[in-house]
Amino acid sequence: MNNKRMLTGDRPTGKLHIGHYFGSLQNRVKLQDEYETYILVADVQALTDNFNNPEKVKQNVKEIVMDNLAVGINPEKSTIYLQSMIPEVAELTVFYSNLVTVSRLQRNPTVKTEIAQKRELFGESVTYGFLGYPVNQAADITAFEASIVPVGEDQLPLIEQTREIVRKFNSIYGDTLIEPEAYLGENKRIKGLDGNEKMGKSLGNAIYLADSEDEISRKVMSAVTDPARIKKDDPGNPDICMVAYYHNLFSKSEIKNICEECKAGKRGCVACKKQLIKNILKELQPIQEKRRYYEQRPELVKEILMEGTKNARKITKQTMEKVKKAMKLDYFA
Ligand code: TRP
Repeated sequence: MNNKRMLTGDRPTGKLHIGHYFGSLQNRVKLQDEYETYILVADVQALTDNFNNPEKVKQNVKEIVMDNLAVGINPEKSTIYLQSMIPEVAELTVFYSNLVTVSRLQRNPTVKTEIAQKRELFGESVTYGFLGYPVNQAADITAFEASIVPVGEDQLPLIEQTREIVRKFNSIYGDTLIEPEAYLGENKRIKGLDGNEKMGKSLGNAIYLADSEDEISRKVMSAVTDPARIKKDDPGNPDICMVAYYHNLFSKSEIKNICEECKAGKRGCVACKKQLIKNILKELQPIQEKRRYYEQRPELVKEILMEGTKNARKITKQTMEKVKKAMKLDYFA
């Protein structure tokens, strides 16, 4: 165990899916043995594009905590905390907002894409809060002096933005903040069941970690396969088949055989999908078992989050002292 800190988290806007699992959850579970680990439930950030739906954010806080516990985040090793209960993060957000220009935020590729997707919510003009959420995220990371942030690819521009803010802060107020690094590991972005480049809640193409056997079966049965393949003995092209794509993730030992049979027209899509369903269920079984354990113990889940938040705050208070001192805001110290 080295003494560096790792921090990452999710917006509580829905349950986590297998895109999150391969994209970032597996990494964080592995890294919790090497780093002092903080997992945030980013409810304040979730409100930036769900300010009109606080109930949704509230409901999903516990889902996110349970998903993290279910995949193997160990509350004895890692600290899971609630963003809104850490006032220092809100304070830092205000201080950092002087260190970033509006046009820089408007150029952030992740923010840009999201704004385009959220036309319905924002209309012609985006809110100050949403445009500024990367500043809030910089506060999340630096409040804990995290040096490593395991995230999915889409988050890289946000980490870059954090690094810029840190450099600017340190150059003006003196060396105070730690410049974090993103950690991608071997993770990959997972495509949706429909072949879309991204698996996402809003796209309706995701398999959730908590999905039932029926839901998983229904979703896999509707996955997109090679459209040129009409009869069972037509030769298939696994390169354009989403079922083959998922076999790559869930059926590693069988994949060679699967592709060969498909190309030779020796395997029907229905049988192939059933095999995939079986393998997904097998992979998710221990996760779902653990999830059920916590679903049956809501008080325990709440306690883990409360305890984590209390511990998290000890760290952010210390950072705040350093920051205020550097910024000459330590009047009564
Ligand atoms: N932006 C992340 C997401 O959309 C959530 C998040 C908030 C985060 N603060 C963070 C991730 C700090 C890593 C570090 O899922």
